[in-house]
Amino acid sequence: MKLSAFMVVSGLVATACGQKVQVMLLGDSITELTCWRPLVWNQITSAGLASSVDFVGSMSDLQGKCSRPSGFDPNHEGHSGWQAYDIARNNIVGWVQNTKPDIVQFMLGHNDVNIGKRNVQSILDSYTTMLNAMRAANPKVKVIVDKLIPTSWSDTTIEGLNTAIPGWIQAHNTSQSPIVIADCSRAAGFTNAMLQGDGVHPNDQGDQFIANQVGPKLLQFIKDVRGGTGQPSATATITPKSCGQAR
Ligand SMILES: *[C@@H]1O[C@H](CO)[C@@H](O)[C@H](O)[C@H]1NC(C)=O
Repeated sequence: MKLSAFMVVSGLVATACGQKVQVMLLGDSITELTCWRPLVWNQITSAGLASSVDFVGSMSDLQGKCSRPSGFDPNHEGHSGWQAYDIARNNIVGWVQNTKPDIVQFMLGHNDVNIGKRNVQSILDSYTTMLNAMRAANPKVKVIVDKLIPTSWSDTTIEGLNTAIPGWIQAHNTSQSPIVIADCSRAAGFTNAMLQGDGVHPNDQGDQFIANQVGPKLLQFIKDVRGGTGQPSATATITPKSCGQAR
């Protein structure tokens, strides 16, 4: 059951402190079949925010090889083998309408390239369609776009997508619905030693790298949602302390 994390009080839009921040982790097998989600959860726990965060999504599997911290919220929207192209056209509207996330984080495009043989512009167009659906569900949604981890052979389309992502964000970023990058690219330090033997999926080291790039961006957005910052209404007087969270 999903409750909106926002409520309107005296004309001000304020975070309702009793409600959890809804976070959707969206992607393909690199989100579904890997172990970085519990590593990010550990960061949320260390920040004292575990009781304030609800991971949302229609999926809830976690590989047996992964550590499963107590209290871990397994929900996610990672779908092994799926392309941004199909998610944008067939799935995203239902997923975000069902959950109305405050924050969406995604890494998508590997299957568009490897299976769909699509180009950079096609993938960016799918990102735009997905973003529009997210904002239709929640006009204040905060979005973390991951630059993709490299394949072992440094696929030129994936590298080109990573190069194009900042410009795509510039074209779509707004203060009401900010977009930031979690840089999981080779340029940011992801090496072939962080990949499994298939040259596509992260190993334990790669999972740690992804968690280290995604986690801080997610924590900042969680704090922003709870603190009511980043809202267009500069007159809102909600403070983080009103949520009873010492930091
Ligand atoms: C998007 O805009 C927000 C402010 O509204 C800013 O904090 C953020 O850095 C911007 N994103 C990028 C990638 O420049």
